[in-house]
Amino acid sequence: MPVERTLSIVKPDGVARNLIGEVYRRFEAAGLKVIAARMLQLGEREARSFYAVHKERPFYADLVRYMTSGPVVVQVLAGEGAIAKNRDIMGATDPKKAAQGTIRADLAESIERNVVHGSDAAETAADEIAFFFRSTELYPR
Ligand code: CDP
Ligand code: MG
Repeated sequence: MPVERTLSIVKPDGVARNLIGEVYRRFEAAGLKVIAARMLQLGEREARSFYAVHKERPFYADLVRYMTSGPVVVQVLAGEGAIAKNRDIMGATDPKKAAQGTIRADLAESIERNVVHGSDAAETAADEIAFFFRSTELYPR
């Protein structure tokens, strides 16, 4: 399996509930490497743009409000099959449907407040990494 990079976000609920370390522990235990990381608070325009794919969905306005409600931690994860591996570690969007032992099954409060974001495919991973990081901010360069 090729080495891939994927974008991950510890969402505002995860940061507020002191789950940054628990989320990172799971990435590292699964062999994913954090090759870039930053804390920031998304502005409304940024959040709307990041989730533009969902702009026609009924949950979009609430999603933007939630994602701008507090700081997030964004990171690039690298490793073999990192995109799918991260999605496996995260679990399904709805914590009620997520497999036992996944971040969302174990830690999420609701389908909206579900602790983490993760890119879903190679193309979105590249776009989402570029949304937050310059190529010179990824290690090793
Ligand atoms: O995050 P993921 O790729 O698993 O799910 P998505 O379908 O791309 O949706 C993006 C985010 O919108 C989710 O992670 C939830 O925070 C939120 N969402 C929601 O509030 N209600 C839904 N019915 C679906 C998604
Ligand atoms: Mg998604």
